Amino acid sequence: MIPVVLDCDPGHDDVFAMLLAAAHPAIDLRAITTVAGNGPLDKVTTNALRVCALAGIDVPVAAGLSQPAAGNAPSIHGESALDGTDLPEPADLLADEDAVTLTERLLDKAGPVTIVATGPLTNVAALLRKRPDLRPRVAFMGGSCGRGNWTPLAEFNIWADPEAADVVLSSGLEVTMCGLDVTHQATATPDVFERLRAMRTPIADRMGDLLRFFASTYDEVFGMPDPPVHDPVAVAAVAAPELLRFVDAPIAVELTGTHTRGATVVDLHGVTGKPANARVALDLDRAEFWDVMLAAVERLG
Ligand code: BDR
Ligand code: CA
Repeated sequence: MIPVVLDCDPGHDDVFAMLLAAAHPAIDLRAITTVAGNGPLDKVTTNALRVCALAGIDVPVAAGLSQPAAGNAPSIHGESALDGTDLPEPADLLADEDAVTLTERLLDKAGPVTIVATGPLTNVAALLRKRPDLRPRVAFMGGSCGRGNWTPLAEFNIWADPEAADVVLSSGLEVTMCGLDVTHQATATPDVFERLRAMRTPIADRMGDLLRFFASTYDEVFGMPDPPVHDPVAVAAVAAPELLRFVDAPIAVELTGTHTRGATVVDLHGVTGKPANARVALDLDRAEFWDVMLAAVERLG
């Protein structure tokens, strides 16, 4: 089993990432850490603890950094950052250390832990700045080889903290990017809703509610009624890499562009002559992905 720390900002699709990380048999989920992104830190941390209570996830949850966060995403995730359903009271799992300290301790103790990041890379960069000697693997949801979603060329997680993304991509670590190219293939089509409904469990019902809210905002903002469920794709890249197609490529983060701050500039054809610094996910076996994702929901009961 692969030891994993999930660093997230729940967020509807982050909840799917939490469930997949908690229930996939290939993953040993050691901790959940939170970062400001979809909502401010206090809201996303409370959301993470509520989801732990719902799904019976029993790992430490540590709050991370609230700054810099360029902004939140209420147009997609609502005022609570997780609108659309009723969740239980937060589980009593909040660690008395911060996200960076907890992750540092786990890496010191357990060795090759993989950090799956599904929010801005602020916590991960803070860890790498503090302890450049640590060598986690990092798989993150963010960026794109082409267009963005928060600005024409920047994806939300990278746009929220481009300097942090730059630290991660310049670290020399084994880094996997699951950008919009691949996460836009993880669409929740009507059959996904139907399969959740058919499970008739409290968790599946809540996940259905969350997806309905996510579908309505995605339709409103992006004209996409089958919303892309981005974040669990980064978990799948670790738990079931055979579901994805990857290429190695050099990625630069645009830090100064007048119109393009936060864009990931991916050299897919080697025209810069630079060495690859990441594995970039380009394609997803969508049917298998949903089988694996929904099996995890079912396993949690
Ligand atoms: C990313 O931004 C957030 O709104 C989602 O949770 C996901 O991590 C998609 O661009
Ligand atoms: Ca997220």
